Amino acid sequence: MVVQKFEYELNTSSPAETQSLAEHLAAQMQPGDILALEGNLAAGKTTFTQGFTHYFQIEEYAASPTFTYMNEYHAGGVTILHIDAYRLKSGAELVGMGFWEYMESGVIALIEWADIVSDILPDDCIRIIFKGGGAHPNDRNISIQSPRALTIS
Ligand SMILES: Nc1ncnc2c1ncn2[C@@H]1O[C@H](COP(=O)(O)OP(=O)(O)O)[C@@H](O)[C@H]1O
Ligand SMILES: [Mg+2]
Repeated sequence: MVVQKFEYELNTSSPAETQSLAEHLAAQMQPGDILALEGNLAAGKTTFTQGFTHYFQIEEYAASPTFTYMNEYHAGGVTILHIDAYRLKSGAELVGMGFWEYMESGVIALIEWADIVSDILPDDCIRIIFKGGGAHPNDRNISIQSPRALTIS
């Protein structure tokens, strides 16, 4: 089992700040990376994804794929797979949708509500946990666990 070696924690106080973090992280990703996004409704998972796709100059708006489960965005030879696991019961459903075939084709995956499908996720995925509940409604606490070193901001 691969231990999540690197941990980072930071606070953002606006959607733009969360998106800027996402852009910064996007620059450090490579094909095959899985970003497991966790946190309650409105915690900022989709907002983060929008910043992430913006880095790749993806024009398409990264809407929450709650009703489609999976969206694919293509730009500059990179494919981002955006999954919303909210309505899934377990990882088996994701596997049934061809998740591993997508990963083998070299996509970078962002999975909202990743805790629901954590039974199939590899230990070396990059976990990002979003929490609200701070003093101000726009405050978010974001913790990142990664198998490799990342730079934050
Ligand atoms: N610091 C912040 N980071 C991210 N989103 C924020 C922040 N402050 C306020 N928000 C707002 O919170 C909501 C987050 O929604 P969304 O990203 O769709 O959450 P999720 O996908 O986790 O359900 C958006 O309306 C966004 O504008
Ligand atoms: Mg969402």
